[in-house]
Amino acid sequence: MNSKEIRNRFLSFFERRGHVIIPSAPLVPENDPSVLFNTAGMQPLVPYLMGTPHPRGARLANAQKCVRTQDIDEVGDNTHDTFFEMLGNWSLGDYFKEDAIKWSYEFLTSKDEGLGLDPTRLYITVFEGNDDAPRDTEAFEIWKKYVPENHIYFMPAKSNWWSPGDNGPCGPDTEMFYDVTENGLGVMTKDEYMAADDRQDVVEIWNDVFMEYEKKEGKVIGKLAQKNVDTGSGLERIVMAIQGKNNIFDTDLFVPITEKIKALSGGEIKDIRASRIVADHVRTATFMIADGVRSSNTDQGYILRRLLRRAVRYADVLGIAHGTLAEIVSVVAEKYQGVYDNVGAQAQTIIDEIHKEEDKFRKTLERGMKEFIRVSSGGEVSAEDAFQLFSTYGFPLEMTEELAKEQNASVDKDGFNEAFRKHQELSRAGAEQKFKGGLADTSEMSTKYHTATHMLNQALRTVLGEHVSQKGSNITAERLRFDFSHNEKMTDEEKTAVENIINQKIAESLPVTYEDVTIEEARKRGAIGVFGDKYGETVRIYKIGEGNNRFSLEICGGPHVQNTSELGHFKILKEEAVAQGIRRIKAVLE
Ligand code: ALA
Repeated sequence: MNSKEIRNRFLSFFERRGHVIIPSAPLVPENDPSVLFNTAGMQPLVPYLMGTPHPRGARLANAQKCVRTQDIDEVGDNTHDTFFEMLGNWSLGDYFKEDAIKWSYEFLTSKDEGLGLDPTRLYITVFEGNDDAPRDTEAFEIWKKYVPENHIYFMPAKSNWWSPGDNGPCGPDTEMFYDVTENGLGVMTKDEYMAADDRQDVVEIWNDVFMEYEKKEGKVIGKLAQKNVDTGSGLERIVMAIQGKNNIFDTDLFVPITEKIKALSGGEIKDIRASRIVADHVRTATFMIADGVRSSNTDQGYILRRLLRRAVRYADVLGIAHGTLAEIVSVVAEKYQGVYDNVGAQAQTIIDEIHKEEDKFRKTLERGMKEFIRVSSGGEVSAEDAFQLFSTYGFPLEMTEELAKEQNASVDKDGFNEAFRKHQELSRAGAEQKFKGGLADTSEMSTKYHTATHMLNQALRTVLGEHVSQKGSNITAERLRFDFSHNEKMTDEEKTAVENIINQKIAESLPVTYEDVTIEEARKRGAIGVFGDKYGETVRIYKIGEGNNRFSLEICGGPHVQNTSELGHFKILKEEAVAQGIRRIKAVLE
């Protein structure tokens, strides 16, 4: 069975059980500034899990495009990848444990409707209980109808409590694992089972979360008004189990890509890990660019840049000719034809973007490598040198670390981060929270746009009302994008009024200053800010204007210009809807 059939079977199975199939949301969350990419199928559904009725009903299913980069170092082993599809079915206050478990089991094992996996190779974990919620004997009893008791293990919250972050819906889960060894593992004690998991002899193929609890600031605070089911099954791993492979790169999802890499490497793969890294990173980059991400030094763009630069380096390890990496794009597009057609439709844009980033990196890569060899020869790369490699040669810190590891050299990572922070004057509440390492784009233009975004936020509140609050923002060196809550299309007069206010404040040459204060103090002074509760005790507030002429006060990590006169002329290019009650403005400084 190939991946396309597996995906289709999943969707048909749940459609026949009353689920509406919804399309995958784009990789970049549209109104959730707390994460850079969707990392689970449930992410775009958070409001509905919290109780807002979903327009398509209480039973939903889909395949959702996801990106997770926290395990990027492990890509190259058997099961890690940075882009994956998550198959999921949801009950929004409708069915609960009994049906969720029954359907999971049926789909995995049924030959007619499902995947026909061998039930004797299934192992199950359930939540053992803690102060937040009791031991899940209910799930245990249900599972016993389908699998022998000695294939079921109780596990602590660390593995069997699922939440998307510190805030939002969460709950105990039950996870299904499949034995991928040749001869089968049979009955195992819990310790033996855990060791098998470490060896990747059993692979997690599905997770049913019983989302009836809510978390706030990292603590479970109680039950939600409704009992939800949120399930997630990584397509790549399911395909691996079905196709009898012990790694995802030998499945039909990756084989055409690795074949292409082999051809580009002169017909022979000398380094399997390098080939897997190139396959994974170019595939992920392809999907990111198709969904609108462009290389930059900030947020999503920086993750894309990091993936592409790492791919370029490993392409060199494989002997792939310069400028040919982008040939992989058409193979990816073909694989996902009829599933994610935007990849094929945008193939040329994706190829151009990869070329552009490769060219840019190659301009400094060779000199950077020479510099790296020089600075690492003593077995230690200092913070200053690591920072120099980043700022002058465009080496992401991770790449310096990886190169150092190969040379048995160490890198002063903490020192790098410190030097970086000092240099950029980023507060600890700034971008580094969103992406470890904190490599925010501090180019001159981006800094200007950053300040312009604060001014836009305030001007919108002045013209449209205090209900306006920031729902997301994205800055490149070319423009700013700002999402905010407002129910109606803005009139031309309103847009002009917003532009006029901002240009007036630019003309007034207002100073831009900051102060570090407690959250309470920031609130007292009337600061606005998107990240509210996520900050620690002290926050940085940026002020535009002084005294009676104070125009804006906003919690933010910076960086900003020092005076509004640096900005030039502000112009709105576009105002449009992005979701119910959310508008988006694209604007430029001319
Ligand atoms: N949201 C759950 C997960 O990602 C299903 O594992």
